[in-house]
Amino acid sequence: MSVKEIFESMEYGPAPETAAEALAWLVDQGDRFGHFINGSFTAPGEGFLSKNPATGETLAMLTQATQADVDTAVEAARKAQPKWEKLGGHGRARHMYALTRLMQKHARLFAVLETLDNGKPIRESRDIDVPLAQRHFYYHAGMAQLMQAEMPDRRALGVCGQIIPWNFPLLMLAWKVAPALAMGNTVVLKPAEYTSLTALLFADICRQAGLPKGVVNIVTGDGAVGEMIVAHEGIDKIAFTGSTEVGRKIRQATAGSGKALTLELGGKSPYIVFDDADLDSAVEGLVDAIWFNQGQVCCAGSRLLVQEGVAERFHAKLRARMDGLRIGDPLDKCIDVGAIVDPVQVQTIRDMVDGNTEGETYCVNAQLPAGGCYYPPTLITGLTPTSRLMQEEIFGPVLVSTTFRTPTEAVDVANNTRYGLAATVWTENVNLALDIAPKLVAGVVWVNATNLFDAAAGFGGMRESGFGREGGWEGLNAYTRPKGKTKPLTKIEGFTGEGSEAEGIDRTPKLYIGGKQARPDGGYSQPVFSRAGALLGQVPIAGRKDVRNAVEAARGAGGWAKSTAHLRAQILYYIAENLSARAAEFAARIDGLTGGRSGAKEVEASISRLFTYAAWADKFDGQVKSVPIRGVAMAMREPVGVIGAICPDEAPLLGLVSVMAPAIAMGNRMVLAASEAFPLAATDFYQVLDTSDVPGGVVNILTGPHADLAKVLAQHLDVDAVWSFSSSELSGLIEAASAGNLKRSWVNNGQARDWMGTEGEGRAFLEAATEVKTIWVPYGE
Ligand code: NAI
Repeated sequence: MSVKEIFESMEYGPAPETAAEALAWLVDQGDRFGHFINGSFTAPGEGFLSKNPATGETLAMLTQATQADVDTAVEAARKAQPKWEKLGGHGRARHMYALTRLMQKHARLFAVLETLDNGKPIRESRDIDVPLAQRHFYYHAGMAQLMQAEMPDRRALGVCGQIIPWNFPLLMLAWKVAPALAMGNTVVLKPAEYTSLTALLFADICRQAGLPKGVVNIVTGDGAVGEMIVAHEGIDKIAFTGSTEVGRKIRQATAGSGKALTLELGGKSPYIVFDDADLDSAVEGLVDAIWFNQGQVCCAGSRLLVQEGVAERFHAKLRARMDGLRIGDPLDKCIDVGAIVDPVQVQTIRDMVDGNTEGETYCVNAQLPAGGCYYPPTLITGLTPTSRLMQEEIFGPVLVSTTFRTPTEAVDVANNTRYGLAATVWTENVNLALDIAPKLVAGVVWVNATNLFDAAAGFGGMRESGFGREGGWEGLNAYTRPKGKTKPLTKIEGFTGEGSEAEGIDRTPKLYIGGKQARPDGGYSQPVFSRAGALLGQVPIAGRKDVRNAVEAARGAGGWAKSTAHLRAQILYYIAENLSARAAEFAARIDGLTGGRSGAKEVEASISRLFTYAAWADKFDGQVKSVPIRGVAMAMREPVGVIGAICPDEAPLLGLVSVMAPAIAMGNRMVLAASEAFPLAATDFYQVLDTSDVPGGVVNILTGPHADLAKVLAQHLDVDAVWSFSSSELSGLIEAASAGNLKRSWVNNGQARDWMGTEGEGRAFLEAATEVKTIWVPYGE
């Protein structure tokens, strides 16, 4: 081809990266791998082949871990953990720094091996996966260094079981391992069966860097090995990234085990293009949104929503751009789209696209290399928001598209999904972008950009995209727990007696729903007795219908989330003031209920707690993260939504206030199940709420058996989180039932809490009451 011809067609030739070093490394390892346990590789055992998806060639033989392998790995991690934690933040930081330096030295090897194993273009593994993985380790080496000074009340969780997917093998490893090690934990990690090689290279690097034995353990195998890790009693926390289906199984499997859990699951993220957007930039953005890593990205902008007036023009530009995408050998540096991870995944994509009968399908007409797992970039236009392909994750290079007319409709369509991982907004109008961003139900929002990641910026989902954040300060909670010993909680029972109504009950409490007193739907009540057996009152037994009504009332009070923090603070002060005016009456009530003498102290502490959260309402701020990209990432704290909370029995009034106040201070709406043993303090308390300008539906109070209420709340699809501080053991029940819509749960695992002391208030409550949304905005040059 002459230079003139090249200029005319702008064709350019291949620029292949050599695979020689990576293949030589595999040969050096004998082309067969065991597991990495306690600082060395085990002898290879029975297993499976790891193949290059671009060619179908075998790269290595991997070992399927047995139960005994998993046991040995967990044992090694357990043994190493106390020493690793005691090494202190500086010691750990030095190790992590050394590890990262070595990763950096072997960057090219990591990149080529990743591309061989996964099929992603070398440009991406070289410029994105590998540098971001290093950045994650550097960033968290810093977190190890700062831990003692900045997180003096927190300590390591222990041994973390980490299960990762195949789309970003090394990067997901870094996201999991770096924060865990920084906080003093040790890990047992299982890479995905299709892509274990860079994890094994990382293991080799750990050995070379002199990381203490047992701190990092890597076992290979399929989902069965994942299940063994999840079920293992020697593990304190599970961190999982993968499909929503498996995430749900893990939620069920860990329910009631006391294991901490974070889940980073699937998505169907909207990519919204307004008619005033810079359309060419938005098209380029889409290339990154949906063809980056062949669309096998949990936060891929896979659902295009384009404003009607520009839709035709935009789709035309997009099709033209698609025709220019270069598909082929992932080791070629000029390639845009590489191979799909495995034939199984290609088939899944094909089945989904072929099964679609709606809209118009445009498929790039390119020559796909023979013998590999390739799928052409595809655009399906003219779908409706409810079309199957608009709702289900395809996890391939397939973009689906629909149109909208107004910004309000854009938000409605964007949020019409069970997921909530990410969203992208394109507009030249800053007012519009910053008006839309808070309305999108997504853990990450990119404005005029897409698929930006950094260790400093939290990443994670809402709804069925999972819970927990990875990265930033907010990611560290998931790898730490409060210092101090825990005490088991003893079940507190209400008193029994034989007193009768004739002894003079002055009031018949009802349920408190939507700011009004409501009779229980079932029409049943139960007696409440004093220690001496005198009848103190009859409380209603709330049933399923009452819970539903309360949740509906809470949903309807969504305006509370948009009210100003200043207003919420004022209302909390007002509640405190009104409680204070009736302090003596409440103190006597508590003493009567519990048969104790600490009523006055409890009321005093409740008033103080209301003040605490009135104070926090406008001070529990978000952050602005310095990310190494043109822009800033704003970590905004948003309310979780509707929270169902089962209140403690140890302190019938203070317990309720301690749970309610932080949640409403942050803009949530509550359905509270009052203390089962001593419910009357709560039913008196709603009169205080009534006189304190709390809008109807923001706080709803139910009475009845905790186990029944907890179950209905945890199963309810319109409840976003369930907390339990009940003295009945409900943790397993709540966590298992929460798997349905993957709602957040915060349970006491049968551990007592000193409600009078510092354990009864503070950041832990505020953090549980909020979810961090990371909004990336262009800023500066
Ligand atoms: P997957 O969720 O089955 O696999 C992810 C990891 O979990 C792998 O390491 C796997 O071995 C392990 N695993 C599988 N079953 C397990 C179990 N019962 N207990 C514990 N660990 C288990 O994902 P898969 O099958 O590879 O891909 C299927 C679909 O999942 C994709 O088409 C995509 O829609 C979604 N996916 C989402 C990812 C994300 O980043 N959110 C990543 C990978 C897949």
